[in-house]
Amino acid sequence: MCGIFGYVGRPVDAADMVLTALRRLEYRGYDSWGVCIGVNGHCEIAKSVGKIGDAVLDLPDSGIGFGHTRWATHGGVTRENAHPIRDASGRLAIIHNGIIENFRPLKASLLTAGYHFVSETDTEVAVHLVARYLGDGADAVHVRRATASAFSDLRGLNAIIILDQVTQTLTAVKKVSPLVIGRGPGGVFIASDALALAPHCSEVCYLEDGYIAQLSEAGVGLYRADTDAPVTPTWERLLIDHRAVELGGYPHFMLKEMSEQPEVIERISRDGIEQARQLAALIRESYGAFFLGCGTASYAALTGAYLFSRIARRHVNFVVGSEFMYQEHFLTNRSLVIALSQSGETADVIEPVLAAKQRGARIAALVNVRGSTLDRIADFSLYLNAGPEQCVLSTKAYTAKVANLLLTAHILNGSEHVGRDLLWRAVDGVRSVLTPNFSNAVLAVAERFKHQRSLFVVGRGLSYPTALEAALKIKEVSYIHAEGFAGGELKHGVIALIEEGTPCLVYSPLDETRADILSGAMEMKARGGFIVGISPEEDAVFDVHLPIPDVGDAAPLVMAPPAQMLGYQLALLRGYDPDKPRNLAKSVTVK
Ligand code: F6R
Repeated sequence: MCGIFGYVGRPVDAADMVLTALRRLEYRGYDSWGVCIGVNGHCEIAKSVGKIGDAVLDLPDSGIGFGHTRWATHGGVTRENAHPIRDASGRLAIIHNGIIENFRPLKASLLTAGYHFVSETDTEVAVHLVARYLGDGADAVHVRRATASAFSDLRGLNAIIILDQVTQTLTAVKKVSPLVIGRGPGGVFIASDALALAPHCSEVCYLEDGYIAQLSEAGVGLYRADTDAPVTPTWERLLIDHRAVELGGYPHFMLKEMSEQPEVIERISRDGIEQARQLAALIRESYGAFFLGCGTASYAALTGAYLFSRIARRHVNFVVGSEFMYQEHFLTNRSLVIALSQSGETADVIEPVLAAKQRGARIAALVNVRGSTLDRIADFSLYLNAGPEQCVLSTKAYTAKVANLLLTAHILNGSEHVGRDLLWRAVDGVRSVLTPNFSNAVLAVAERFKHQRSLFVVGRGLSYPTALEAALKIKEVSYIHAEGFAGGELKHGVIALIEEGTPCLVYSPLDETRADILSGAMEMKARGGFIVGISPEEDAVFDVHLPIPDVGDAAPLVMAPPAQMLGYQLALLRGYDPDKPRNLAKSVTVK
């Protein structure tokens, strides 16, 4: 969470450059933002609460600047709590991503020592600590050592950058929370995400834990954080085409990314075979495999568990990322942990993966962002190749995960060609639920539900995880309470909530679950539920039928887009921004 961008080079409109880059990073947090540039011996800061929108900064040219988009953890959403935050002298400014777990005792000792705090953040502790270690230190080495010492006092998964206007340097250090350094013709850069570097850099270097980087007009210096010994940075080519992150004529990234799903599946069926074979081989060799992921990635993982059991007759355990630590005693050096993550930065995935690795387990990742923390930790990465996903809601990355798992299950079963055929059927299937006709049918449903407070989604078997994903998609973008559950659970409590007109989405593919799911729908209807059937075939119980094609075990791929579309339409009808729902961020890098 929190987007970070910094620049050192020749004097330019650095404030504008930083602000433009922050707009690209806003999906990481959009409670508030701030920019700092070094001018005439002091740190000039502009900050504001809310999204960046059309903000324009009127600051002089500068050869050094950095900025931050915040997702609040400690301290409310106020201008004072927005980053950058200055030290008392005004010489230093800090931007930070993470949570300083021991900030209370650190703050208490700084207060006793006479430091004055202007914000409620944990971040401010770090800048005062750097200032305390720095004292009168005048050169860049002093700044680097002071930053390294202060950072070693912090507990938690953090990344900090210190701007020092005396030495005109940016000094960066991190633990788990990502930072990427870039170099290009205009200067040197640093960001929380390589996407923001794409317009400026052709080469990047991922900052590793235990190292400290210092950016100056002379370039990038890299050092061991403990000894200050210099290290040669490893540069790699940046492979992101920055045009891929433009809206390209769509009104929202959510619609753009939903529309890309057929080509994502097509790419997997064409280019994804070798990766899926390698994953299948790892699963075959393992003794105990675990899927883990958070949010939408967890529902893709749960779908995978159903597909593996059904197609490959193989049990793969499923655990939600944040719960994994409580079950890790099952791990041995023959276990395989399969972590699913679009960003590759989710703290609730990274932490258990690191713990599993320490216990000797092998790590396979299904990840979209190359070079991300998960990608670099994993023994094997299966790249989703879904292209940059910028809407905070995950759509095409979910589809890519499920498509890869379907293919892998068939490879494990020795029926690779069936898996590929299913993917081809799914390509056409998803196209058919993205047509204007289908969208209009969904819009009519959205019009009917737009003032509702609650909505239920049911599925059984393979459609159960889809029901969970559908409910998540609808609730996070429309703010209507939506709950997904297994059809069989209806009479164990949930049916108490069904009353006249309650919206009920019912997934009913043509598989062994159909009879039971339809009888559950009857029970909801008998209590007044308004039934929207998402199914290849009409049934008398449906008040509205949204027809999807029958694609066999690829059903999860065609069942998710109608719910994505419903969430999108509901958000628009209710006046919300589908790309940046309240309280959310794309990369959840704090626990
Ligand atoms: C929902 C959504 C989140 C993410 C979750 C994991 O639309 O986007 O639930 O799926 O935060 O993110 P990744 O896949 O980056 O680990």
